[in-house]
Amino acid sequence: MQSTPSVRSPSRRLVLSRSAALVGAGTASLLLPQIARAQSGKVRVGFMLPYTGTYAQLGVAIENGVRMAIAEKGGKLGGREIEWFKVDDESEPSKGVENASKLVQRDKVDVLIGTVHSGVQMGIHKVARESGVLNIIPNAGVLPVTRALCAPNVFRASFTNSQPTLALGKPMMERGLKKAVWITWKYAAGDDALEGFKESYTKAGGTIVKELAVPFPNVEFQALLTEIAALKPDAVACFFAGGGAAKFMKDYAAAGLHDKIPLWGSGFLTEGTLEAAGAAAEGVMSTLHYADSLDTPRNKQFRSAYAQQFKMQPDVYAVQGYDSGQLLVAGAAAVKGDLASKAALYKAIESTVVDSPRGKWTMSKAHNPIQDIYLRKVEKGDNVVVGVAAKALADSGAGCKLT
Ligand code: BEZ
Repeated sequence: MQSTPSVRSPSRRLVLSRSAALVGAGTASLLLPQIARAQSGKVRVGFMLPYTGTYAQLGVAIENGVRMAIAEKGGKLGGREIEWFKVDDESEPSKGVENASKLVQRDKVDVLIGTVHSGVQMGIHKVARESGVLNIIPNAGVLPVTRALCAPNVFRASFTNSQPTLALGKPMMERGLKKAVWITWKYAAGDDALEGFKESYTKAGGTIVKELAVPFPNVEFQALLTEIAALKPDAVACFFAGGGAAKFMKDYAAAGLHDKIPLWGSGFLTEGTLEAAGAAAEGVMSTLHYADSLDTPRNKQFRSAYAQQFKMQPDVYAVQGYDSGQLLVAGAAAVKGDLASKAALYKAIESTVVDSPRGKWTMSKAHNPIQDIYLRKVEKGDNVVVGVAAKALADSGAGCKLT
């Protein structure tokens, strides 16, 4: 039998002698070309987002937003051209580490922008912590990455999953909705959103009579809607997003619940889903850090520029992508394109006051936005602002050691 020829790796002695030669020749002079490349070559920006599946539209909106923010500032980062890389993460947590490694190890990105799904984010987070690559999170609200597992190189431009629902309980109780059923997808985002809802609703005197869930990204809601009809709560509160959220609202209406039991939610329920849900979304109440109808010059200018450029209306995901781009522009400008100057880069990102379409926001010590949360109502296919449900709301950042 013939043996397969093998490519032999260089011996340990050879590797050692090569590195000894490097040191001997003068490390500084040999490293100069590398530093020069880092400062004058292209900045390598990687998107790890869902481009297929129930969150596909969210990934597209985020990428659009990032590109728009950078294009508005001349299309460069700290004076350097950009080379873009993309991986479709399919909202598949089991491939999270592998996909993030493709961008970090294979493509050698300077910054990884991603992702949407909380489970996939945990894979990115492992790679980001181990490699030290800059990670800007444009959506996924999973709690540990800006709590006990926070990291100096990881910044979130979006929210924690419990931020919107921390503002949900009080307005429900103010409307006399004292008994609620909670329903969600069973994964980190749904569990975190429940944490916020439980805290705010029970603190305001409400009772959660039942917690229901379906596995992500299952959209077979019928059996649970039948159970809700039998329970007859004062209201239903939920976390769903993307394609599944539109299906949930339509099934809710088809089950005859739309006019009987008020539907409330973490505001992702009605983001980018109103056209698909149609009449089923009318009257739905929610809390979120953005609303299409925010009556500010900044929001109006953003919305009309986005619509003109991409021939579609922006939603919260586009705003979060846009703010991720704004953070990157500010950080790169502060270090004049030298993204290897990590301490200065992180300091600049930490101290940026982001002039966002959602309203100005700042970064918490744990690297999560401190931001207003709006109460919204769907009226004639639009998320109309009813009021500010929570002013400058910060996540607890519990367990984060960054100072
Ligand atoms: C999440 O998985 O964290 C998430 C996904 C979609 C919308 C909001 C949060």
